[in-house]
Amino acid sequence: TPVDVFDYVVFGATGDLTMRKLLPALFYRFRDGQVPAESRIIGTARSKLSTEEYRGRARDALTSFVRPQDQDGGQIDAFLDLVHYASLNGAEADSTWSNLTDLLDHAPADRIRVYYLATAPNLYGAICENLHNHSLVTDASRVVLEKPIGVDLDTANAINDGVGRFFPENHIFRIDHYLGKETVQALIALRFANPVFERLWSSDAIDYVQITAAETVGVEGRAGYYDTSGALRDMIQNHLLQVLTLVAMEPPGSLDADLLRNEKLKVLHALKPIARENVAQVAVRGQYVRGDVNGQTAPGYLEDLGEGKTSSTETYVALKAEIQNWRWAGVPFYLRSGKRLRDKVSEVVIQFKSAPWSIFPAAPRANRLIIRIQPNEGVMLAVSTKDPAKPDSLTLREADIDISFGKAFATRYPDAYERLLLDAVRGDPVLFIRRDEVEAAWRFVMPVLEAWSADQAPLESYPAGSWGPKAAQDLLAASGHAWHEDQ
Ligand code: BG6
Repeated sequence: TPVDVFDYVVFGATGDLTMRKLLPALFYRFRDGQVPAESRIIGTARSKLSTEEYRGRARDALTSFVRPQDQDGGQIDAFLDLVHYASLNGAEADSTWSNLTDLLDHAPADRIRVYYLATAPNLYGAICENLHNHSLVTDASRVVLEKPIGVDLDTANAINDGVGRFFPENHIFRIDHYLGKETVQALIALRFANPVFERLWSSDAIDYVQITAAETVGVEGRAGYYDTSGALRDMIQNHLLQVLTLVAMEPPGSLDADLLRNEKLKVLHALKPIARENVAQVAVRGQYVRGDVNGQTAPGYLEDLGEGKTSSTETYVALKAEIQNWRWAGVPFYLRSGKRLRDKVSEVVIQFKSAPWSIFPAAPRANRLIIRIQPNEGVMLAVSTKDPAKPDSLTLREADIDISFGKAFATRYPDAYERLLLDAVRGDPVLFIRRDEVEAAWRFVMPVLEAWSADQAPLESYPAGSWGPKAAQDLLAASGHAWHEDQ
């Protein structure tokens, strides 16, 4: 069903995120009949472009990032009719604001407005102040904040305070695009629609949990941002901790946004604080060096940064987290993420405990449940069965109960942004991060950031195209555990 008519105002509209994700996502929803034709998408950025010029760029973006089979020319033209552009210095209180107010003042006052901030996060406060000063914040307005919210707890608080002066919390939508992924939401379905899993979902049956987001890409064109961020801030503080909350939370009373987020918050609060002096024991940081990728030599991180550059920014993190509550005490949650690794894969591995006693010639392997977030989205349960190739003995062999969602449902997997962008129009915050979650997540990672910036733990190196530094294997081996690919 279509949403109500809206004006979507994007700050940072010439940037990579807008071109790669936001415009294609809005296009898909338009194509699927969910965007009313009177709606507008208003790009703003400092570049002096006309609406026609901006539409040209938007067209290029759609041609590059929408699947060829979905590029219906008529639909693209109709969609581009909704696109407008206002050249604007969002963070300055100057006269360029009239370019935006001219457009918005013509719209009915009760029309839904979404202000999507895809600029540098330290500008969010100033942009909101300017929106307020130009009387652009109406009762039907909401603001969407892209990650990262700050670079540490203090800057996150400053940004949240700055935005909070002009928007109430229930009009602030903090994006974590992992929550918009179909398979991340499928985790909620798997756990709470299938008692067969939930009954086993605790330290009684589970030995340890792994959450991985591995990428094959390096820093591409984003070295400027990435080098000030690193993998801990870029992936762990937000995406991986969010996935962890969904794996570990207690069943909420309903899917009400606050009930669900209360449960997620409790998990973040139950994370065992990491003492600065223990960081080297529970966290590994790495940086890729030159390595072999599909028979070709790929450059190291420092080479990617440019000649003569040095940097101690981590492009890989592995971290052992523990949750201090009745359900999870004693079950390590291993998180890892890195650039230029062997494969692109995001997944959750639930490693069950072994059978207490084996009656077989060789002991069965413990069950493993793998939730494949991407690619090849699906769920797999590794079980032991009788090996038919050995008919004369009860020898075991592992086989998989494997659901591939692509095959099972034969449908296109929508990009995470499609759901999230329209949820902001609907005013549904269930898949967005509440302020207290952002703070709790920062609080958890702060000691690690501090120890690393004081050089209290080694920066390991790993070859491009590998699975990361050896120290990350050792981190698990110390407890008799192993990463998925080593099992
Ligand atoms: C972004 C990070 O939030 O997530 C990027 O800033 C990363 O560095 C990306 O590449 C990964 O997202 P996905 O959806 O490809 O797993």
